[in-house]
Amino acid sequence: MANQLHIVNMETCKGDGICADICPENVLKIVDGKAVTVESRAGECIMCGQCVAVCPTEALQMPKLSAEDFKELPRLPFGYGDFFDFLKLRRSVRAFKDRPVDHDLVEKILEAAATAPMGLPPHSTEVLVIDRRKELDFLLKVLVKDYAFMVKGFSNPLGRAIFRLTAGAEDYLVLKEYVVDLARYANEAYYRDGSDRYMYNAPILMLFHGNRRAMSYEENAHLVCHHAMLAAVSLGLGTTIIGLIPPIVDRSKVLRKRYSIPKENKVMTSLILGHPKYKYKKSIRRDLAGVRTI
Ligand SMILES: Cc1cc2nc3c(=O)[nH]c(=O)nc-3n(C[C@H](O)[C@H](O)[C@H](O)COP(=O)(O)O)c2cc1C
Repeated sequence: MANQLHIVNMETCKGDGICADICPENVLKIVDGKAVTVESRAGECIMCGQCVAVCPTEALQMPKLSAEDFKELPRLPFGYGDFFDFLKLRRSVRAFKDRPVDHDLVEKILEAAATAPMGLPPHSTEVLVIDRRKELDFLLKVLVKDYAFMVKGFSNPLGRAIFRLTAGAEDYLVLKEYVVDLARYANEAYYRDGSDRYMYNAPILMLFHGNRRAMSYEENAHLVCHHAMLAAVSLGLGTTIIGLIPPIVDRSKVLRKRYSIPKENKVMTSLILGHPKYKYKKSIRRDLAGVRTI
């Protein structure tokens, strides 16, 4: 039974074919008015659970997924107007109250983050939550030190040539055009008075990393981070995605060991969060770089 993909209740299955129609891998079909597994396709099942979730008579079970995995679906709690208003509330918050974030809020954020889509289930993204001030201070020191190395390297032609070779043409341009200046500025602030222009003294940093061998592991991590960000906003918290942190953590043997990041995982993105110090009075209009319909 346990290695059987689907269990179909022969009494309640109406043979409507909805499960077969919705399956992205054509793993189900209707035979003699009942749903059956297409055995030749069973190995292609991606465990998305859509067949179980959609069945109007709840006639399907998947032994590899627990009944607990399926919850009653809520009704759409808001319309487009409310949703759009909610999106406008999100800004990148870089000033935080000196106040910790309750553990249950973090739990909620992670619960919501786990609803993000992924290339193929299950999730490839892991999250490291850093909320100890001492740890954040340690990371800040590593960021300052590693970026100082880069800034110094970019200050002479030989260093730039080495960075161009090791980073590749595209990444080199990003470093040259943006990252070096940002890092120089952040480091100068740190040397001046200990200011943190990397994590802005946020009480929490989340690092999102994922297994390089998983399908779409990069996009998966960004989506999980984005869901976490919106969840935090719904809880009254402020967040900012910090792109300067992942490459440093990813390349640092010391940090990878300290954070127990598996060898095969790449650190993709990071998010600072905390209670916002200020309230925004206005939203800002944003337009996409371009839209064409053909
Ligand atoms: C991929 C990505 C990386 C970012 N990295 C940083 C960063 O390292 N430091 C920072 O202060 N803000 C960072 N941001 C925040 C952006 O600067 C911010 O989203 C942008 O200015 C738009 O402002 P808004 O988020 O308030 O609408 C990043 C945002 C994204 C999406």
